[in-house]
Amino acid sequence: MRMAHAKKKKTSSHRQPGKKAVEEATAQVPKVQAKPAPGPITLCIDIGGTGLKAMLVDTKGKPVSERVRVETPKVPTPLQVLRKLDTLVKKLDKFDRVSVGFPGVIKRGVTYTAVNLHPAWYGFEFQKALEKRWKKPVRVANDASVQGYGAVKGVGVELTITLGTGMGSSLFTDGKLCPGLELGHHPWKKDKEYEDYLGKRGLDKYGKKHWNKLLLEAIEQTRKLFNWDHLYIGGGNAKKIDFKLPANVTVVSNEMGILGGVALWRY
Ligand code: BGC
Repeated sequence: MRMAHAKKKKTSSHRQPGKKAVEEATAQVPKVQAKPAPGPITLCIDIGGTGLKAMLVDTKGKPVSERVRVETPKVPTPLQVLRKLDTLVKKLDKFDRVSVGFPGVIKRGVTYTAVNLHPAWYGFEFQKALEKRWKKPVRVANDASVQGYGAVKGVGVELTITLGTGMGSSLFTDGKLCPGLELGHHPWKKDKEYEDYLGKRGLDKYGKKHWNKLLLEAIEQTRKLFNWDHLYIGGGNAKKIDFKLPANVTVVSNEMGILGGVALWRY
């Protein structure tokens, strides 16, 4: 199984998060290996609100390059992002195919929402645009789905949430993705959505202490709603968690949001 190496190192469900959890989560990321497994090399890309990140990954889901990053353009229209992606790709070696995690709803290669990027993404043929540009087969999926593919064990109901600029979510049953879950945009408390509290806007507005309190409340809310067997928390702001994680909740490395891209070629 491709992500087996990463999974073996997954930490137990009861732990003190914060710095230690992040260190443990980082330890889940396989080191760059010298000799790739035979088969196509996948260029895995994660498009975020602040950074565009990429790595080359072999068929077993192990990195065969360093992680490279460029800033997300200030006005992240499709054209500006495509141009930045060109500069990102130039930092890496050759690849055979491409997987992209995108921060919005995607269906059949077309982007339908991108609330933290730019309205010009609505209805944009992203997959086709990349295929035309790089002359390689491309698969694009929601960023939290990609993170989930990197994290889940394939057993029971597993939910992944990502805490970054936005709040992402993906739900799996026995390893199979139920696509389209946008928990971040579900109403929660008063007249707001989960993302307003737990995304970057919420963190900036309420401060770290209150944000942590809200996150713990949200975890319990999702437990009641989905009855998950395990919850994974990823994204750049997962390192800000300062409470003891409840049972069956794990912080996962942000790198899983890139490495999970290989899974898009399993189907
Ligand atoms: C988007 C999601 C995405 C999340 C994290 C949300 O605003 O609607 O699709 O997964 O941000 O990037």
